[in-house]
Amino acid sequence: MPKARFEPSGLEIEIDETSTLREAAHVLGVNVHDRCGGNGACCNCIVTVLEGMDNICPKSVVEDAVFYLGPNDRLSCQCIIHGDVVVQVD
Ligand code: FES
Repeated sequence: MPKARFEPSGLEIEIDETSTLREAAHVLGVNVHDRCGGNGACCNCIVTVLEGMDNICPKSVVEDAVFYLGPNDRLSCQCIIHGDVVVQVD
């Protein structure tokens, strides 16, 4: 299974392809500042992808509508991974 590492903690977890980065963060106790339960409504669960952008599903319609996402930013609740990634949580 692909692995996700969350910086700055360095905590790492294997994720299957039915789970999101947000769900993985919760298992590890990493706070991704989500407010809507992973429904794509709050747009607060931002992570910056440091490595493995190509290993994450394409941006969702919700993410495309969030003007303040940087080029390496994703909403963790919208991200299914199919390879290893490293993300930064602020
Ligand atoms: S948890 Fe609210 S948009 Fe991701």
